Amino acid sequence: MINVAVLGYGTVGSGVVEVIEKNKEEINKKSGEKLNIKYILDLRDFPGDPYENKVVHDVEIIMNDPEVQVICETMGGIHPAYEFSKRALLMGKSVCTSNKELVANHGPELIRLAKEHKCNYLFEASVGGGIPIIRPINYSLTAEKIDGITGILNGTTNYILSKMAAEGAGFEEVLKEAQEKGYAERNPEADVEGHDACRKIAILSSLMTGKNVKYEDIYTEGITKITAADFVYARALERSIKLLAMSRECEDGSFYAMVAPFMIPVSHPLYSVSGVFNAVFVHGNMLGDSMYYGRGAGKLPTASAVVSDVVDCARHIGKTIMCFWDDEDVKQANVEHIKHRFFVRTKAALEKEAVDIFGLIRVVVADVKDEYAFITEEMSEREFKEKAQKLGCVINRIRLES
Ligand code: HSE
Repeated sequence: MINVAVLGYGTVGSGVVEVIEKNKEEINKKSGEKLNIKYILDLRDFPGDPYENKVVHDVEIIMNDPEVQVICETMGGIHPAYEFSKRALLMGKSVCTSNKELVANHGPELIRLAKEHKCNYLFEASVGGGIPIIRPINYSLTAEKIDGITGILNGTTNYILSKMAAEGAGFEEVLKEAQEKGYAERNPEADVEGHDACRKIAILSSLMTGKNVKYEDIYTEGITKITAADFVYARALERSIKLLAMSRECEDGSFYAMVAPFMIPVSHPLYSVSGVFNAVFVHGNMLGDSMYYGRGAGKLPTASAVVSDVVDCARHIGKTIMCFWDDEDVKQANVEHIKHRFFVRTKAALEKEAVDIFGLIRVVVADVKDEYAFITEEMSEREFKEKAQKLGCVINRIRLES
């Protein structure tokens, strides 16, 4: 029997308990052992809950119980999740987590501690919710040199952008509706400003490079400046606007990651990823492209991924599953040198100046008054910034992904 403790009985934690209970036959068979929820740590009591007698308020009970072999950390945030995870690993207890913030901040250290204490620190649920993406990168694509990852990694923003695209509505209006329906947090900043996607691409990029990609160094732009008019142009171009998180290992050996809204064409595999769904597109030098798609958030999909890690822990008691994510920081290329084509909106009166400054451009005709819109040639971020400054008025600009 494998005794499991769940830290945090919120949405994901209660989902973990539910998944283990509902699918116990399959899960126990696949684990080779019976999984037993021995403790649930939470500050609150849950009178009437079928697991109320498992609830404890003192983490010491869990830490000091040698029978507990696996811990599901579903608390979120850094503190005290970091301290609890570290202590558990130091005692040889494996930790499975959905906590992207903690993984992005302390991943290499916690992975190293797990290795030193012959246990595991697993985090499948930290990126893409229920989509298996950590395991494919870590254990399946091991014959590949992965040189590119592009993903829609945030369900909230994808829901908002999909609604804006479908209904021609404005950002604020759709955000409000998403909040009312519970798809967006009351404080949506981490999602709409791209911070959540940034942490997730930092985790995937670290696994891609085998080194530490600091999320603080990733250029991140959210979706708050995207308007209904941008979608009018996108439609005219047979494109959509998606918040993409991407990382690339370039031919010259340099590496960069970024999070920003991009206009993508109908032919792009991520074009039809709508609503709260996530998808990750991985490019390997032998395989080429592969794509992973599914529910990127939500109680049961996320809990399912946590429990898949618990099963892996049960299968590897006393052994550490290999994970390449060293402490050494990856040097990220200066984003100023990254090249893209840009979609640009300016005032109708500035048509001549736009042509003079940007040179070869493709004009975009759409039903938006008093504006002149165009697509530039490929140019670096710095070059674009300089030209935009010269032009004096850029109503909005969005990068293009082909
Ligand atoms: N806020 C996240 C999202 C939840 O919208 O994708 C899953 O990490």
